[in-house]
Amino acid sequence: MNYHVLTLFPEMIEQGLNTSILGRAREKDLITLQTINIRDFSENKHLKVDDYPYGGGAGMVMQAGPVYKAYEHVKNQIATEKPLRVIYLTPQGKVFTQAMAEEFAMEQDLVFLCGHYEGIDERVLEKIVTDNVSIGDYVLTGGELPSMVMMDAISRLVPGVLNNDVSAEIESFHDNLLEYPQYTRPEEFMGEKVPDVLLSGHHANIEKWRREQSILRTVQRRPDLLEGANLTDKEKRLMKEMLSEGV
Ligand code: ADE
Repeated sequence: MNYHVLTLFPEMIEQGLNTSILGRAREKDLITLQTINIRDFSENKHLKVDDYPYGGGAGMVMQAGPVYKAYEHVKNQIATEKPLRVIYLTPQGKVFTQAMAEEFAMEQDLVFLCGHYEGIDERVLEKIVTDNVSIGDYVLTGGELPSMVMMDAISRLVPGVLNNDVSAEIESFHDNLLEYPQYTRPEEFMGEKVPDVLLSGHHANIEKWRREQSILRTVQRRPDLLEGANLTDKEKRLMKEMLSEGV
């Protein structure tokens, strides 16, 4: 997976993706990161990339020219037959989900466009953006953090990035269910014991308990997800019991 990030703050992206799992994935070249400073494409001797909005109003707007040139610079380096996905981070976009992460993870290259100030001149967005994406219904100061959130979620789906291949599958949102609770040593902590079944060594019972816990958690914490969950008839009955008992 090759990420290309158009931004006014390349150091923020570089630092954010330099540690832990993503840092290791970059060392192994499982993912690559290219940051492109939009300011390098300024058309102005003071390296300005923004200007006042036509029609008046507060704040500044990023100019179309530098953004387009930065995009062209990236596009010319990418050899792909498929149309290139250019993701613009904006609270006006489609809200990012695990299903979207899975879809983006299938691409070879992804371009992220990070805006600042009051936004970017609409004309360049119309020319280059293929996907408008929001990471949630709140407003941030720029697209850098949202792009990092997306790169994190996408990278862990790239084969080899997680040590443990199964853990990307058996987890929150797989099957639209939340993950079951986890425990490690010690067996007792502040008087609370690890559930007996997990110490039993009985794999089938453990699987069954975990599945039930996943359903219970989802009922309790994210009932909105249940509609998309793939439950057996027996599990549906269990879910309805949980819902009617008000667990
Ligand atoms: N830019 C500012 N706020 C944002 C959000 N919530 N998601 C994506 N990009 C943004």
